[in-house]
Amino acid sequence: MAGRGNAKARNEILEMLMEDHKRVKRAFRDGEKLTEQEDDDGLEQIARRTCAELTVHATLEEELFYPALRTEIRETDLLDEAEVEHTSAKTLIAELEQMDASHPKFGATFKVLGEYVKHHIREEEGELFPQLGRTGVRWEALQQEMQRRRGELMAANGLADQAEAADEEAASASGSRRERSRRKEEMSEEETAE
Ligand SMILES: [Fe+2]
Ligand SMILES: [Fe+2]
Repeated sequence: MAGRGNAKARNEILEMLMEDHKRVKRAFRDGEKLTEQEDDDGLEQIARRTCAELTVHATLEEELFYPALRTEIRETDLLDEAEVEHTSAKTLIAELEQMDASHPKFGATFKVLGEYVKHHIREEEGELFPQLGRTGVRWEALQQEMQRRRGELMAANGLADQAEAADEEAASASGSRRERSRRKEEMSEEETAE
């Protein structure tokens, strides 16, 4: 039987993923502003970093999170769709990697990537996550594995300097209910802003 620790681990995993979602959505909004301002350097910086963050996030989901859910949820087609959506996003990320920020389509490619990602996030948070209330997933073991792998992936994608940010995230993931509801408010603001 799943105990309290297991439910806590599940919530913390979902919060970590949603924290990533929130951060990339913000980055895409900033990217649109920088594209309008024709700030190639600023855009390049934010796009490179966001692509690296998306790669870490998507890899964690593909290697560990989705497989753990596959035998535990009824609507496994959601996982199939999610994986296809990841593939589309990775194609655009690979295109951006080949482009210079001064390329006339760089801003547009980053913007379209943002649209794909926002759609995907809506499905994960709106359809997939709500199915995770009662499952046989061993969340505590999964959480440990995801934290370990996240560290490796961050280092491999040049995000090792963000270990501090990851610590902050972990702290806020296990933080107070007040902090959580504040973040929920922010998220619903973001939804209406879209
Ligand atoms: Fe995600
Ligand atoms: Fe995903």
